[in-house]
Amino acid sequence: MSDPGNITWHEGELSRAERFDALRCNGGTVWFTGLSASGKSTIASALEARLIRRGIHAYRLDGDNVRHGLNSNLGFSADDRAENIRRVGEVARLFADSGCIVIASFISPYRSDRDAVRQLHEDAGLAFVEVFVDTPIEVCEQRDPKGLYKKARAGEIAGFTGVDDPYEPPTRAEVVLATERTDVASCVERVAEHLATIGLISQ
Ligand SMILES: Nc1ncnc2c1ncn2[C@@H]1O[C@H](COP(=O)(O)OP(=O)(O)OP(=O)(O)O)[C@@H](O)[C@H]1O
Ligand SMILES: [Mg+2]
Repeated sequence: MSDPGNITWHEGELSRAERFDALRCNGGTVWFTGLSASGKSTIASALEARLIRRGIHAYRLDGDNVRHGLNSNLGFSADDRAENIRRVGEVARLFADSGCIVIASFISPYRSDRDAVRQLHEDAGLAFVEVFVDTPIEVCEQRDPKGLYKKARAGEIAGFTGVDDPYEPPTRAEVVLATERTDVASCVERVAEHLATIGLISQ
């Protein structure tokens, strides 16, 4: 954590263990990364529904949604992309500490930004699960639900990930989803199984 100067951390009266125990919850972050149209938001919202319907406190942080509010002052330069992920990483850590399962879906194209969020969680003793939505760009481009690839190819969007901006695939993702041959429900089950394996949820 950076040194904020003349500011002192105020420890709460409750421990995290006591909070989780009293509220019967468990906090951690599930981080979906992948190209635009790879399926992050689709799988994330299905996972959120699956968890909530079983009474598990979960909440989605989605790239597009966060850019409407908290990060509405950020663009898509490398610095702004890094700041976008840094802020979301901090928010995810707070939600996770509160006892929520955070389901984050962000292209998050740079490995160092994602690794920094992982480190933030590990330093805080919180689970961090990286899910690589591994959909080839040709498939993403064919899906193109928002018409963004079409615009990027036409030169109407500069710095589009996978077209004229890099995507650095994870090297140690806990879960890898090949969406061109795994349907949404099966992708959700794969992630839920992993969460059960590490004890973040009970099946
Ligand atoms: N197995 C699958 N998993 C997820 N999405 C799938 C799958 N098969 C087909 N799709 C389709 O692919 C599209 C994925 O779009 P989605 O908005 O979820 O992508 P995204 O990764 O969130 O993109 P962005 O980064 O632009 O927000 C949807 O139209 C969805 O219906
Ligand atoms: Mg999305």
